[in-house]
Amino acid sequence: MAAQSLDSDTLREALEIEQQIEQGVYKNLTEAARELGLARSTLAHRIETAHLQIHKGNMEEPSSEPPILPEFGDKDIDVEEIIDHMQSRFQKRQAHEAAKKWFEIKFPKKDEVIGLVAMGDPHLGPSCDFSTLRSHIDIFQNKKKKYKFSKDGRFTDGLYCLQLGDVADNWPWGRLAALYAEEDISRPTERKLGKWLLESCPWIVWLHGNHDMFHGEFTTYLESINCQKIPMMDWQAKFKLVFPSGEIRIDAKHEQKFSSQYNPVHGLKKTILWGQEQPDLILAGHRHISALAQEELENGKCVTMARARGYKWHDKFALRYQFAESSAWGSSWMFVIDVTAEGPMKIVPFGDIEEGADYLAWKRSR
Ligand SMILES: [Fe+2]
Repeated sequence: MAAQSLDSDTLREALEIEQQIEQGVYKNLTEAARELGLARSTLAHRIETAHLQIHKGNMEEPSSEPPILPEFGDKDIDVEEIIDHMQSRFQKRQAHEAAKKWFEIKFPKKDEVIGLVAMGDPHLGPSCDFSTLRSHIDIFQNKKKKYKFSKDGRFTDGLYCLQLGDVADNWPWGRLAALYAEEDISRPTERKLGKWLLESCPWIVWLHGNHDMFHGEFTTYLESINCQKIPMMDWQAKFKLVFPSGEIRIDAKHEQKFSSQYNPVHGLKKTILWGQEQPDLILAGHRHISALAQEELENGKCVTMARARGYKWHDKFALRYQFAESSAWGSSWMFVIDVTAEGPMKIVPFGDIEEGADYLAWKRSR
C-alpha cells in the first residue's frame, strides 16, 4: 500500500540516490539520507519500493547516463571551402600555363642582330667534355676580349643561350642510383656544377631534360637559385623573339617526339608538318647526335631544324647499344638571327661557336 502512495518521481529519485551511493557520491545510505533530510528508513523504503515496482513491470530500469566525450572540432576547413580554394588555384595554374605558351622575349629598341646558342646536353660530370664546354663559355664571356661586351659587362654583346636539358646525370633512386658508385660524382657536386653553369652563360631559356627530372630535387634546387628569373621549364618551350619589325618563333624541346634511323631530324620535321604553329626554328637535344636541316616550305617560309650533340662522351649505354659517338662540332649550335633578312639568311646556323660569334660581331658592327 505504501508503494502506491509514492509517486514515480520520488521512486526514480530514490534510485538515483542509490546509484550515487554506488558511485561514491555518498559514503553510505545513512549519509545520503542525512544530506537529503530524510530518515534512513524512509530512504531505504523508497529504494526497496522502487525495485519492487521495477520487478512488477510498473517502472523501467533506470538507464545510466552515457559519458560525455570531448569535442575536438574539424581538423580542416569545410569541404566547400577546400573546393573553392582548389578551384582558384587551378584557374591560376591554367592562366600560368597559358602564359607560357608562345611567350615573348622582347628586343624593343631596334631590329638588332642577335646570336642564340642552343646548348646540347651538358651532362656535367665525369663524361662531360669540359674542354669544349669551357671553350664555348669563354666565347660567351668574351674571355679573349675579341668582341664588344654586353651592357652589364659580363658577356659577349648580343649573344644569348638556350639550355636544351640534361644538365647533369642526376641518377634516380632505385637501380640507376647504383651508377653513382661507378662514377666519381655525387649529388652535391652535381648541384655545384649546375649552379656554375647557370651563372656562367647569358641564358634566356632553360629546359629540364629527362635526366634533370630523374630526381626532382635537382630541378627544384636550380629553380630556387634562379635569381635572374630565366624561364625554366620542363622539357619544352615555345617562344617568340619579338623585334620591332617582326618575330622569330622557336619550338625547343629536349626531344621532339618520333624518330627515324634514316633522318636524325625526323621528329623536328614532324613538328612542322603536323603542327599548326609554324615555328621558324625547331630545336632538340637528347639523342647526343648532331644534325641540321634548312628547308623552304610550300608557303615560302624557310625553317631551320637542329639537333645539338651535347657534351657527353664515352657513354656506356650508347656504346653497348651501338649508338654512334659524334665528334664535338654541333655540341651546341649557334644561330645568328636577323629578323629583317630573307629566307635562309634570317637564321644562319654555325656548328662552330667561335665562327658564329665572329659572324655575329661582324653583323652587329655593320
Ligand atoms: Fe642526354
